[in-house]
Amino acid sequence: MRTKTDVDSLFEPRGVAVVGASHNEAKIGYRIVENIVKSGYNGGIYPINPKGGEILGQKMYESLSAVEGPVDIAVISVPEKIVFDAVKDCADKGVKHLVIITSGFSEVGNVEEEQRIVDFAHDHGMRVLGPNIFGIYSASASLDATFGPGGILSGHVAIISQSGALGVAMIGKTAAESIGLSALVSVGNKSDIDETELLEYLAQDDATRVILIYIEGVKHGERLVETLKKVTREKHVVVIKSGRSKRGAMAAASHTGSLAGTDEIFDNVMRQCGVLRAESLQEAFDWARFLADAPVPKGKYGVIVTNGGGIGVLATDACEKYDVALYDDQKTLKETFSPVMPDFGSSKNPVDLTGQATAEDYAKALDATLEKEGMDAAIALYCETALFDVNKFKEILRREYEHYRGRKPIIFALFGGDKVDHIIDTLGKDGVPVFASVYEAVSCMGALYRSWRNLREQPEEPELYDFDADAVNGIIEKARQQGRGFLLADEAQQVASILGLPMPRSIVAGSIQEAVDAAEEIGYPVVMKVVSKDIVHKSDAGGVALDLDNKKEVVDAYQAILRSCRAYKKDAVIKGVEVVEMAPPGVETIIGARQDGAFGPIVMFGLGGIYVEVMKDVTFRAAPVSRREAQSMVSEIRSYPLLLGVRGEKRKDIDEIVTVATRLSSLIHRCRDITDVEINPLVVYDRGEGVKAVDVRILFKKRPEVK
Ligand code: COA
Repeated sequence: MRTKTDVDSLFEPRGVAVVGASHNEAKIGYRIVENIVKSGYNGGIYPINPKGGEILGQKMYESLSAVEGPVDIAVISVPEKIVFDAVKDCADKGVKHLVIITSGFSEVGNVEEEQRIVDFAHDHGMRVLGPNIFGIYSASASLDATFGPGGILSGHVAIISQSGALGVAMIGKTAAESIGLSALVSVGNKSDIDETELLEYLAQDDATRVILIYIEGVKHGERLVETLKKVTREKHVVVIKSGRSKRGAMAAASHTGSLAGTDEIFDNVMRQCGVLRAESLQEAFDWARFLADAPVPKGKYGVIVTNGGGIGVLATDACEKYDVALYDDQKTLKETFSPVMPDFGSSKNPVDLTGQATAEDYAKALDATLEKEGMDAAIALYCETALFDVNKFKEILRREYEHYRGRKPIIFALFGGDKVDHIIDTLGKDGVPVFASVYEAVSCMGALYRSWRNLREQPEEPELYDFDADAVNGIIEKARQQGRGFLLADEAQQVASILGLPMPRSIVAGSIQEAVDAAEEIGYPVVMKVVSKDIVHKSDAGGVALDLDNKKEVVDAYQAILRSCRAYKKDAVIKGVEVVEMAPPGVETIIGARQDGAFGPIVMFGLGGIYVEVMKDVTFRAAPVSRREAQSMVSEIRSYPLLLGVRGEKRKDIDEIVTVATRLSSLIHRCRDITDVEINPLVVYDRGEGVKAVDVRILFKKRPEVK
């Protein structure tokens, strides 16, 4: 039976044992003990080694059973072959968490041994972090139980890393960049504890303001999505995922043995969850450092203050790129800045103080911005000039930052020679957000604003359409019994009608007369399609006739379809011919849903035809989606203006697209045997005139999901 303890004691343990502690300074088992001792941990420290003796002033225990105090964490650093025995000792001692450093498990195909350890651990009330990890750091316990370089600064950024080596390197990097950490956890093979559970803990950890996750592959993506949606309402979450490229994704999969999932889906789903995805490690660190200290903005308008026009224009471009709105009330700008700048300066945002400005003018302009109601954030730029006393300027920047720090977000970008680099270096080390590049600075401000918008947005419940799922599963089961993994057109239409999707009218005819009657009832023009479980690709078999205008054309088409289908496949069982209303032309879109290997049920939307195939103009969301999320899918594609109506055309029925998307999302969420659904095309008409699901395809698992 699986017994779970929560992860709290992983971050606040009463005692830590290191199984495999070594006197040999070159060994990992020595480094871990050294870091624990040096980090100032004041719980019980228990190095374990059969040789006994002493290490770094600590008693070395010959076995875990010799330890008297409670041991919440056992860091295991012995070779793979003896890990299981060590785990058994941990169970006897009542250890809560196994932090398994050792490599050589699922990442190299040794899945069974890893599973044996996890099963045994669960049976004995223990949880497993790793294996194949570098350890854990927790600021609240002053505990560095990693084999990293030490010297971790405590602060407000929590890092979860799937990569070991990179995680270790992050220890040195964060220290060099003066980034303080509240926690650092290596998850490695994620055999038991994964990002999701750690996120739940970190979300309620007061010291943590920003969570930075380095991820290579997603396991249990559905749970991750649910948790991220909640956590991003409390904290800034930054993710950096490798494997953007196809080759990179393959490398990541072989690195940690987990599925990377396609990058577009990952990207879209992270945005849906309110997570900030950084392009590079450096960007992730820049954001984390800035977000950990920046106050939440009170409003959306930023002001650029500069002493150089060119750099001001660059910053304006960057603001557009990173979605930072600029304050634009020209009258107020003039009133605010005229008193603090020369006549030939410009008060239009960017506020250009010109090269003639002194450090004092600069300070006055910043004060004017930050004291003004409605000017919510400042982006302060500086081009080196001879008029500035550099030392004085450095102190002014420090003073301005300290003064407004908790009240309004402020960021600096300075451009110049050695003296300027020196300011950037010194202030940076003291935690002032100062950059050598305008784009890097504005990218941080953009990250803050994106996170802010997310924090402000009211959460919305997913739209769960109440349909008869048993009826859908019944249709699937019947098809499955015939050995199929797909539904025939008429079966797929039944599913679509259970979902209440608008479709062209259709009647299956078993004879020429029935076909004519059906066409007369539906009204011309009509389309005719063969109905046969033996003919999947109807067009290839000559089983489709379009645009039939009268009785004679229907009669001819019926005979032609039967003739060519029989020629195509002699023994095909033909149920009849489907007579379908010919949908009037409109904008062709495509809506799909499927079970994704990483994230579980997802929905997809795009414009049809070449937009999907050539332009790859599609977007994804984890299902089930809310109406707002479905709406954002529609407005996010590049060809969205075609739906808004271009060149005098009317706006299309976007509301109805949203309805269809939420219904497919409900279907894929509830009917887990369905692997793929695609409506292609979903023809969209003018606003108020609806949509039509012209072709619906459904694939399912040939074997039902074991519940
Ligand atoms: N209990 C406690 N200690 C034991 C023991 C037991 N049952 N059996 C042996 N030991 C001792 C050893 O005697 C040794 O101490 P010593 O130096 O005093 O002799 C110590 O444990 C370590 O064992 P050793 O055999 O020397 O292993 P190692 O230190 O060379 O390697 C690992 C152990 C875990 C580091 C190695 O197997 C490994 O997996 N390395 C990769 C780690 C990694 O990269 N992880 C991912 C990072 S991201």
